[in-house]
Amino acid sequence: MTTAAITPFPPGFLWGGATAANQLEGAYDADGKGLSIQDVAPQGIEGPRTPAPTPDNLKLVGIDFYHRYEQDIALFAEMGFKVLRLSIAWSRIFPHGDDAIPNAKGLAFYDRVFDACARHGIAPLVTLSHYETPLHLAEQYNGWVSRDLIGFYERYVRVLFDRYGSKVKFWLTFNEINSVLHAPFLSGAISTPKDQLSLSDLYQAVHHELVASALATRIAHEMIPDAKVGCMILAMPIYPLTPHPADVLAAMQADHLNLMFGDVHARGCYPGYALRYFREHGITLDITDEDRECLTNTVDFVSFSYYMSVCETADPGSQRTAETNILGGKNNPTLKASEWGWQIDPAGLRIVCNQFWDRWGKPLFVVENGLGAKDRLVEVDGVRTVLDDARIAYLNDHLVALGEAITDGVQVLGYTAWGCIDLVSFTTAQMSKRYGFIYVDRNDDGTGTLERYKKKSFDWYAEVIATNGASLRREGLRTTASCLSS
Ligand code: BG6
Repeated sequence: MTTAAITPFPPGFLWGGATAANQLEGAYDADGKGLSIQDVAPQGIEGPRTPAPTPDNLKLVGIDFYHRYEQDIALFAEMGFKVLRLSIAWSRIFPHGDDAIPNAKGLAFYDRVFDACARHGIAPLVTLSHYETPLHLAEQYNGWVSRDLIGFYERYVRVLFDRYGSKVKFWLTFNEINSVLHAPFLSGAISTPKDQLSLSDLYQAVHHELVASALATRIAHEMIPDAKVGCMILAMPIYPLTPHPADVLAAMQADHLNLMFGDVHARGCYPGYALRYFREHGITLDITDEDRECLTNTVDFVSFSYYMSVCETADPGSQRTAETNILGGKNNPTLKASEWGWQIDPAGLRIVCNQFWDRWGKPLFVVENGLGAKDRLVEVDGVRTVLDDARIAYLNDHLVALGEAITDGVQVLGYTAWGCIDLVSFTTAQMSKRYGFIYVDRNDDGTGTLERYKKKSFDWYAEVIATNGASLRREGLRTTASCLSS
């Protein structure tokens, strides 16, 4: 008699991978697609915008998923994916964002993608807006600062729910919605330069997105009764830099700036600390009674990305600025970091899961997590591959921490590893910052064959999925640190 392997992951746990249209599809002007804000941001969030697409913008070609999706989805199926997170490029459906009629060829593309997923038994988890708003909405309306965007977004989501409602049951409204505070253009399509943007305009944009998100949730529930809708938050636990109460308070207040987004999505209204923040920072917002009513359409689950934690301090002279994915913070002296300076903290995932579950009591979905690293293609027994032990260690340690959170009693629906196939980085727009289980032959200078190769982590993740997490190694927990720089 065999005993079932012990695993904290519940039966039916949704294992898979995550992607975003602008980072992998390419075909930026094919079949009637309009320009998106990403098509004029060749250097990621810090770089300048260009007046028009330029050949150095790797996202224009991406990894050519637009033409290779069949092969890629078959590879995901080979790993045993239950779910694939992907986004719909808004400008493929409405090329300008404010068009009256959707683009038929854009709609047909996602039908083909969802049908391919269905053939492999993979459920799509679709992000409605993942840092790829139509450029026209940025240029003509100043993005989400304008209330008009709620109407354009509503038109867009109604078309998607109508067309794909029978094929897609998991929807996310906005990727990392809290990032608009830090990346107004790429997150909120706001054309006003960040240093000239008033806090009132910024938070008005936030408010419009929150209303649009709640509206999409309501419409999805009406149009697709068995759909589950989630918000998506950039999660980054913020620890006090020291045990000094002033640092603890500073960490709490920094955390509030992020938690507000989950509070509104999960509780249906602005929390008191946010109203105080608005008051004390001279932020005046146009919030109508209809908006307040709309916000009460709360999400079914809370999804989030998790890559790192940071520290906060009340000391204005602190020099410990951390490299982060968008949000700011201070370096934690106890942690090691990736090659891009992102601090590695598996325990932070358990902490954030407990915090969110205790706070909102909604099921969670980890929809991004992974290690961005430089990979080297080598030949082993005549087969080209990448020996990505550091990535395996990172993912192993985070999944063990996630299992601990589940054992703590947190309800987690699933886990989608970020960039399950190498794609163009969001923050730096590089190809060399790779996350995938599948290597794509493309370089930062745009050269490469676009051929796909399975990395060592491909078989490793397939085994994790096949055993529902029982193959994870608790004793490997220190490997991440030993593989990476301090
Ligand atoms: C998240 C984004 O912030 O981080 C993704 O939702 C992004 O789009 C991911 O790719 C990793 O960031 P980067 O810059 O390493 O690609």
